Order: sequence, then C-alpha cells, then structure tokens
Amino acid sequence: MNPQEPRLPTRDEYYELANRLEWTPKYVSEEELFPVDMTGVPNLPIGVWEELYNAPYRVTYREYVKNQREKDQRFFAVREAGLRSELVKKLDQTYHQGSFCFHINAVPIPEYTASIAESRMARFGKSGEWRNLSTFGSMDEVRHAQLQLLMAHDNVQVNPKFASAHKMFWEDGWLPIAARSFFDDTITGTTAIEFALLTTFAFETGFTNLQFIAFAAMANKSNDYVFSTATQSIQTDESRHAQIGHPVLKVFVDTTTLAKNLEKKI
Ligand SMILES: [Fe+2]
Ligand SMILES: [Fe+2]
Repeated sequence: MNPQEPRLPTRDEYYELANRLEWTPKYVSEEELFPVDMTGVPNLPIGVWEELYNAPYRVTYREYVKNQREKDQRFFAVREAGLRSELVKKLDQTYHQGSFCFHINAVPIPEYTASIAESRMARFGKSGEWRNLSTFGSMDEVRHAQLQLLMAHDNVQVNPKFASAHKMFWEDGWLPIAARSFFDDTITGTTAIEFALLTTFAFETGFTNLQFIAFAAMANKSNDYVFSTATQSIQTDESRHAQIGHPVLKVFVDTTTLAKNLEKKI
C-alpha cells in the first residue's frame, strides 16, 4: 500500500467520530435547544453529558440496517410458512385464545408510544451517542408495533377479538385504561431522562426482556413457531435499546452523589 495514500478510518475510529459529534449552537442558547421540560433533570451542561455518556452497546447505522433486514427476512419466511399451513387453526385453544391473545392485543399500540418517546430522546438527549442509539430504538419500536399488528390481523379469521390489537388505546376496558395511565406516566408524558430511567432501564430490562423470552419459550412449546420467532426477533432489539438507560442512570447517580458530597462540605 502506498504510504502517501489517505487511509480510511477503521470502523472503531469512525464510530467514535460519528457518535461523539457535537456542535456549539450559535443562534439559540443551550437552554432553548434542550429545554429542561423536554430533556429533564439533572439539568447538566451538554459538555458534561457528552463526556460522561458511554453506552455499552456499539452499533453503526450500516450494521443496524443489515441486522434488522436479516431479522425481518427470517420472521416473514416463518410467517409465510405458518399462513400456508393454517397454523393458527391447529394451535391449542387455551394457549391461543388465552396468553397469546392477551399479548398480541395488549402490546402493539404501546410499542408505537415507545417509538414516540425514543424519538424524544433522539432529539432531546444531551449526547450524540444517546441520540443515535435512540434513533435506532425508535425504528425498533415501529417495527415491533407493525409486526405484531400484522400478526393480530392474521388471527382475526379465527376470532374477531384479535381486532382489539388496533383498538387498544381507544377502548375503555380495564386493561386499556390501566395501560394508558401506566404508559402516559412512563412513556408518552416523560422527559428524555425520565423515559431513559423508567422505561429503557427499569421496564425494558426488568420486564420486557423477561416477557419476550418467556413468551418465546411458551410459544415454542405450544408449536406456535410464528409467534416464537417474532418474540425472539423483538427481544434482540429490546435487549439492545434497553441499554440506553444504563449510562443515563450512571450519570444521574454520579452527579447526585457529587452534589450531596459538595453540600456536606459546605
Ligand atoms: Fe418494543
Ligand atoms: Fe423497547
């Protein structure tokens, strides 16, 4: 190789450069660009977030698109086989009309709300890496909503109650009312920091991952290979974007501890 030839940056060099790219706003103040009502507290300067936010999961846009395309290909191949063999008509009724029905009606619309909150972090998170990962997270959640709505639609031929997946937030049953209230508090009505702590760190780490792994295993045991493939596919996204919240929590704890120690000294 000619030593004079300019060398392209390696993937790791490019990753650092692209993910830590920040700019200094000239026409608006930092407070106007990142209002505290949208970003949340602690209201730290952008330079501090930029320095301290360090996500464990590292993925570039090119890698993300390739991975997601392969995941969708796998799911749609299994779905096609399930449709052709009329799998939904052969499943155990207790499983199909019970736990599967509960999941597929309750989950898709909240997935849409999660894509809105991920977009909020993608705009108002005060670190480039945080915003990039949230952009992927937002696209993940749109994929989850659409994929699961499609599965609910595939089941309407067996029982019309599967149409409830579309109506989830516009019905007044006990489940939609409880879900709307819970998700307004933890997703739709949150700041970027609150969403990172309440949903990506707490809910997605403690609940979603477990829910999707358990459902994948149960579906597999019940011979529902379509739902098993779907939940495994979704879970791989969830375990990635669940990690957005961990660095936010670390910054939150570190700065709160620092502030308390300073207070003691004064
Ligand atoms: Fe999701
Ligand atoms: Fe998620």
